[in-house]
Amino acid sequence: MKVQSNKLLNAQVLERSSVVANCLMNRERVLQGKNSYEKDLKFPVLDFLEKRLQDKQEVSWLDLCCGSGKALIEAAVRLQTSPFVAGVRLVGVDLVGMFAPVGSFLPLPELRIQPVDSFVPTGFFDLITCVHGLHYLGDKLRTLERAASWLASDGIFLAHLDVNNFRIEGHPQAEKLLRAEFRKQEITFSSQTHILQIAGGNQISFPFSYLGADDRSGPNYTGQPAVTSVYSVEF
Ligand SMILES: C[S@@+](CC[C@H](N)C(=O)[O-])C[C@H]1O[C@@H](n2cnc3c(N)ncnc32)[C@H](O)[C@@H]1O
Repeated sequence: MKVQSNKLLNAQVLERSSVVANCLMNRERVLQGKNSYEKDLKFPVLDFLEKRLQDKQEVSWLDLCCGSGKALIEAAVRLQTSPFVAGVRLVGVDLVGMFAPVGSFLPLPELRIQPVDSFVPTGFFDLITCVHGLHYLGDKLRTLERAASWLASDGIFLAHLDVNNFRIEGHPQAEKLLRAEFRKQEITFSSQTHILQIAGGNQISFPFSYLGADDRSGPNYTGQPAVTSVYSVEF
């Protein structure tokens, strides 16, 4: 069902929507293995962090919509024996504080209960992830713009995205417009894996204005109900 523009949800209402604030979604992904970040992102997160730590003696990972934070906690456990452990920074942000218990090891992940929209980090990150989190956000494109600006020059942003979770008023083929914009802005997106990638140093700016969110569009490619983000076009 398509919701009319004047019935779109603002951020506060969206955060209370049963599509976003439910306890059924998978918040339990760990770092490696079957139900994991490495599997879903098709990216060797731990190797990446270890190599950066070895090369630069510091590494930082920000996980947006981190769920239980288990992937960050596992990374903390695995990196705690590194001689450069003092240079590790692990930050997670989620609307809901359903975090797994954090041990007393170093480096302690910083887990914040906060909407992504209001999160403002200090410093830059080598890796920023949003694993199955964009599906629930209102202004997904603003999140991409902001996250890209928090990347170190050689950093990388990785997230899952369904291009069907977008509507651009007056343009029946929002997906085409969006893909063209991704190409123009050198954002890599795979229709097969639904993984979107932004390289550090790429300052993203979309020519779309956010109008609001529609939480009634039903399941997306994950099989779970997701949020459609509605925009108007500026050109
Ligand atoms: C499907 S879960 C994925 C969690 C984690 N990334 C994982 O893979 O285990 C999506 C997460 O997005 C969070 N979320 C939804 N809207 C959010 C928002 N506006 N700001 C921060 N987190 C949000 C939910 O609370 C949930 O934990």
